[in-house]
Amino acid sequence: MKLAQRLDGVKPSPTLAITAKANELKAKGVDVVGFGAGEPDFDTPQAIKDAAVKAIGAGFTKYTPTGGIPKLREAVAARIQAEHGVAYKPSEVLVSCGGKHALYNLFQALLNPGDEVVIFTPYWVSYADMVRLAEGTPVLVQTGPESDFEPTPAQIQGAITARTKAVIVNSPSNPTGAMFSRRTLETVIAAVKGKDILVVSDDIYDKLVYKGKFENVLDLDPSLREQVAIVNGVSKTYAMTGWRIGWTAGPQALVSAMQKLQDNSTSNASSIAQHAALAALTLPLEAEIEKMRQTFDGRRKHIVQRLNAIPGVKCNEPSGAFYVFPDVRALLARKAPGQAEPLGNDERFVAQLLEAHKVAAVPGSAFGAPGFMRLSFATSMEQIDKGLDRLAEMVKSLG
Ligand SMILES: Cc1ncc(COP(=O)(O)O)c(C=O)c1O
Repeated sequence: MKLAQRLDGVKPSPTLAITAKANELKAKGVDVVGFGAGEPDFDTPQAIKDAAVKAIGAGFTKYTPTGGIPKLREAVAARIQAEHGVAYKPSEVLVSCGGKHALYNLFQALLNPGDEVVIFTPYWVSYADMVRLAEGTPVLVQTGPESDFEPTPAQIQGAITARTKAVIVNSPSNPTGAMFSRRTLETVIAAVKGKDILVVSDDIYDKLVYKGKFENVLDLDPSLREQVAIVNGVSKTYAMTGWRIGWTAGPQALVSAMQKLQDNSTSNASSIAQHAALAALTLPLEAEIEKMRQTFDGRRKHIVQRLNAIPGVKCNEPSGAFYVFPDVRALLARKAPGQAEPLGNDERFVAQLLEAHKVAAVPGSAFGAPGFMRLSFATSMEQIDKGLDRLAEMVKSLG
């Protein structure tokens, strides 16, 4: 069967593939340490689960308006107002099936063939493919550990052309955990202001910050409101990845276009999950969320320290999210035992780590950054230590 060409340039998600491979090995009884997961290892807080059960009991089991139940849209708008001081009408908020779905709808609604979207590298795998699926052109701007994964002003300005339609800001970032400085956000604002360019502010890790304070472009310039789409959701903050609730707040024309698309694709996100998300946004869960953040922070410090103690591995300290992105370039000229050829690249490095040492990580090239790998520390301290013992063993074994 001849299938749609639009999928030809799109790769299956490498992070999901690694997780699937690690799970397959685990199911066979192999003791694999998984650093692949892009989700908190904590359970969803009980009060949120209770709200979902209550919603089922109360009969909230039917279609809802496509854009979400009014109370949830209002709660999202209220949160943005409280945190960023910018007002959104409920109609300017669209609830989708996760942040990923929100972003997919956004690019479908925004882009025409050839429109460019500036993406800072290393980038979350899905951005470039979602842009391509919408017939847009990803414009990749390389950053590295020497600038703590921040683009320079010249790089930001140089990436903007007459075809630029959007700039994605994901701070804290997946995969590096790096956060943009105020200066970088200001440079982004200055580069787009007054032009037909949207800042897509993917704030999904805004509550998982360990150094400094979270800021988005609207904190610095509320007058940019008509040029900003805020994407967020409950997945990471509330350990609710499986519930699939995310949202977009943005200019009415964009949100209405996204809603039209959603009307004709998924319709509403799950009615029950929407009630759970409403509970997440409105119940006093600060203490529980803070506990998770502190646990992540302890692991973050530990994993960075242990990685940097392995000869040949260099790791920046992330400011947020739950990932570290160590540089293993210095090890790629080395050979695995019994191999005639050096490892050569991060994919072979990560394959050796999984096959010979039973540790699952995602190669940096999946995020546009060859020579690195991503480890998620959304796993227990015990697993972190076990995994890093194995990584150290592998490094020692290289010839
Ligand atoms: C940077 C980034 N944005 C958005 C998402 C989407 O999350 P979800 O679809 O679970 O809300 C993820 C999830 O991995 C992410 O890492």
